[in-house]
Amino acid sequence: MTIARHLIDELELQQTLTKEQFLTLLQEITPEEREVIREKACATAKKHFGNQIYTRGLIEFSNYCKQDCYYCGIRRSNKDALRYRLTKEDILHCCKIGYDLGFRTYVLQGGEDGIYSDDDIVDLVSSIKAQFPDCAITLSIGEKSYESYAKYYQAGADRYLLRHETANDEHYAKLHPAKQTLKNRKQCLWDLKDIGYQVGTGFMVGSPYQTLETIVEDLLFIKELSPQMIGIGPFIPHHDTPFATETGGTLEQTLLLISILRLLIPNALIPATTALGTIDPKGREQGILAGANVVMPNLSPVTVRKKYSLYDNKICTGDEAAECKSCLSQRMKRIGYELAVDRGDFKPLLTEI
Ligand code: 5AD
Ligand code: FES
Repeated sequence: MTIARHLIDELELQQTLTKEQFLTLLQEITPEEREVIREKACATAKKHFGNQIYTRGLIEFSNYCKQDCYYCGIRRSNKDALRYRLTKEDILHCCKIGYDLGFRTYVLQGGEDGIYSDDDIVDLVSSIKAQFPDCAITLSIGEKSYESYAKYYQAGADRYLLRHETANDEHYAKLHPAKQTLKNRKQCLWDLKDIGYQVGTGFMVGSPYQTLETIVEDLLFIKELSPQMIGIGPFIPHHDTPFATETGGTLEQTLLLISILRLLIPNALIPATTALGTIDPKGREQGILAGANVVMPNLSPVTVRKKYSLYDNKICTGDEAAECKSCLSQRMKRIGYELAVDRGDFKPLLTEI
């Protein structure tokens, strides 16, 4: 047995590896062994979720952002981004459309838009909860104080997505201006956990300056944080950013990392992301077959879809919510899965209760 093959078994058994072992696995894995880990990850997801794929309705409600991440198309310095904000009524309308399509989770995502006060977010969350009490609300609005996060939680927000982006300080500094720090990012994640949110983190695969070593740090950080959700997708260059001419992440490496993450935290909620669907026409299907168990179709009004442009060539920007939902439902059916009408909460393992 090769060393990589042995490490796959070890990861499956121990649900972790050492730093050196992870590095060896990433360096040595052969195409045949990628297929082995994919099958194991897929079987693990099946064991926990059957053939049910959880769906989250994504509402991209503002693309104003005070942050300046070098990779992101809606960064503050991008003067060519066409900025928009949805009103509360627009958002509630998206929720209604989503509800009728069977969505029971809304992900409210936006740039770090300074115009919203905590009270605005609280009002938005409580209004959605009042109208759709059987739905979960996920916020994805960036770095805030403990107090702000606590207020949103009190108002009814259930989950929070905040990718750590990279767990290596030097790498973080190459992706962001100096005033954005990994230390603060991590603190936010620990605060969110402490408050009681189901927390999601993650990173881009193939971001500029990423190495196998930094990926190992990502895996170990994720294991330490033990988030309920893990979102990864390939880095895709955006033409109006400092990284316009950088190379994007690959399908192959993203699929391998999805499989590793599935074995690392077997019951985690892992989406087959839109970015994965963007770099390959069957990317999301392949993501599911590599161990992902969530899809996040877009519920934003078609009029704003193109404007929420984090990276180039994003898919689904011209399709109404209903079209996306039925497209995805057919895609999942073709590979033997179906979309669940369910909040799709994280289920702790018996040993974790
Ligand atoms: N390519 C891929 N993913 C990106 N994100 C931001 N910009 C890009 C890009 N150019 C991801 C980040 C962020 C999430 C909302 O989108 O990881 O956390
Ligand atoms: Fe949006 Fe296919 S999922 S069009």
